[in-house]
Amino acid sequence: MSRIKSFVPRIEDTDVESVIDAVKNGWEDRRSEQIDNLEKQLEKVTQRKHAIAVGHGTDAIHLALASLNLKPGDEVIVPDLTWVACAAPVIHLGLKPVFVNSDESMCMDPHSMEKAITGKTGAIIVVDLAGSMPDWERILEISNRFKIPVIEDAAESFGGAYKGSPAGCFGDLSILSFSGTKVITGGHGGAVLTNSDDMYLQMRSIYHHGINQELTGKYYWSNELGYNFQISNIQAALISSQLNRLDQLVDYKKWLFNTYQHHLNLVVGIELAKAPDWVKSSHWLIVARFDPKLGISKEQFIRLASEQEIDIRPFFYLLSDMPPFSTYNVEQSVGRKITVQMSQNMVCLPYGYDMTEEKVIRTVKVVQEILESHGA
Ligand SMILES: Cc1ncc(COP(=O)(O)O)c(C=O)c1O
Repeated sequence: MSRIKSFVPRIEDTDVESVIDAVKNGWEDRRSEQIDNLEKQLEKVTQRKHAIAVGHGTDAIHLALASLNLKPGDEVIVPDLTWVACAAPVIHLGLKPVFVNSDESMCMDPHSMEKAITGKTGAIIVVDLAGSMPDWERILEISNRFKIPVIEDAAESFGGAYKGSPAGCFGDLSILSFSGTKVITGGHGGAVLTNSDDMYLQMRSIYHHGINQELTGKYYWSNELGYNFQISNIQAALISSQLNRLDQLVDYKKWLFNTYQHHLNLVVGIELAKAPDWVKSSHWLIVARFDPKLGISKEQFIRLASEQEIDIRPFFYLLSDMPPFSTYNVEQSVGRKITVQMSQNMVCLPYGYDMTEEKVIRTVKVVQEILESHGA
């Protein structure tokens, strides 16, 4: 029996042709052709004025934070339940993460966020986790009231929407990722988006060593200290080509979610994590929450599934539990129960573009056996 992999991307012949064209011809005066195309496509899909394609989503967070000109020691509010890339650039920039709790949306709890705001808060990174989205209206009402800039991390929600507005259009800045398992992938890749001309110009300058040839008229002249966050034309070709099929890819993800839902319906002790009604989820991940009373850990769950040739992945660990982040503050006012349980009792079922109904049925059967062997 062949192994059911956690994730397999969908790469079509047209994507390969586009990459081959970039590899063969995308040099010198065509060296940024696909990057320019990609940025225009992203501006359209996210309804943003400016997009800058970068090497990784992590670079995009770093760049977005750097454009806010915060002071060393300023605080940045980050969800505790998310991917490490949301907090690492905060520390690299000499800023302090403050971790806050999540609500049933799997995303930042607006109440916990408000309680974490202090006179030193310089920014808030709000993450649309696993294709879900938070209560954006409340989040923006609070952040506007306190005049604190917001970065929307839409790495996992790209292709989805909140009350009709596309993921990637919220906050002062937003970021995307095109890493290997995302709805669309370039192997690696990311983007930062904004409507602000000032932030855009500043990010354009620092994303490539502060070189601004239009301004200075000189090649290889750094006008200010910057980074090298550029994406290659070849990666951009792969991402740009898939972007033409974004709706189709998200439709497939929705089909996969519904198919799991249908087959898990009668299984006791587990349910799929759903986005709130206000969200059109990208269904990037298929996240299932198992009953904590069964006394099984997510690591055991994954090991037992692996023995049956099914790759299941853990849902996120809490950042504040991990060594690089454990000394920073965690907001406590709403209690930790939802956040901790989501981290401990959720797993990611196989979510690749190779999944068929037959593979879903096989996965669900193994899941059911694991749960039954623990008393479900
Ligand atoms: C929520 C979130 N933020 C940021 C990133 C960082 O993206 P990358 O891996 O492209 O650096 C990812 C993906 O990996 C992510 O899932």
